[in-house]
Amino acid sequence: MTDYKLLQSQAEALLRDEPDGLASAANFVALLYNALDDVNWLGIYVLRGDELVLGPFQGQPACVHIAMGSGVCGTAAATLATQRVPDVHAFPGHIVCDTASRSEIVVPLVIDGGLVGVLDVDSPSLDRFSQADQAGIERLCATFCGLRSGRGFL
Ligand code: SME
Repeated sequence: MTDYKLLQSQAEALLRDEPDGLASAANFVALLYNALDDVNWLGIYVLRGDELVLGPFQGQPACVHIAMGSGVCGTAAATLATQRVPDVHAFPGHIVCDTASRSEIVVPLVIDGGLVGVLDVDSPSLDRFSQADQAGIERLCATFCGLRSGRGFL
C-alpha cells in the first residue's frame, strides 16, 4: 500500500524550488518509480506538435513516438482523461513496449490549461492500480503541473 500522503510531501519538497523543467520531470519520475511497488516502467511522454515523444523515464527502453489517440497514452492525451487499464491485453490498440507489462495507468499532464504530456505507469501484475492509486497519482501529477505553472516544462 503506497503512502500517498508521504509521497505527496516528498514530491513537493523535491520539486518546489527547482526552476528547471527537465530536472524536475526526471526527479518526479524517479521518486514515483522508487516509491510505487510492483511497477516495471514509469515515465513521461511529452506532447511535441501532434504526437507524444518519450521523455524522462525509469525502466526498459521504450517506444519513442506515440500518435494522439493511439494506445493507452494517446487515448489519455486525446481525451484528457486518466486511463486505468486492469489488463493491457484487453485494451484495443494497446502499444507493447515492455512485454512484462500487464496493467497500466496513464494520467494527462495539464499545465496552465494546456496538455503538455502524460505520465505512464506500467505494472507486471494484472489490475495493479486501484481507485485509490488513481486518486493518489492524479494528485501527484496535479502537484507537479501546478509547480510548473508559469515556469515551462520540457
Ligand atoms: N503501453 C503504452 C505505450 C507506452 S509503454 O507502456 C512505456 C500505450 O499503449 O500507450
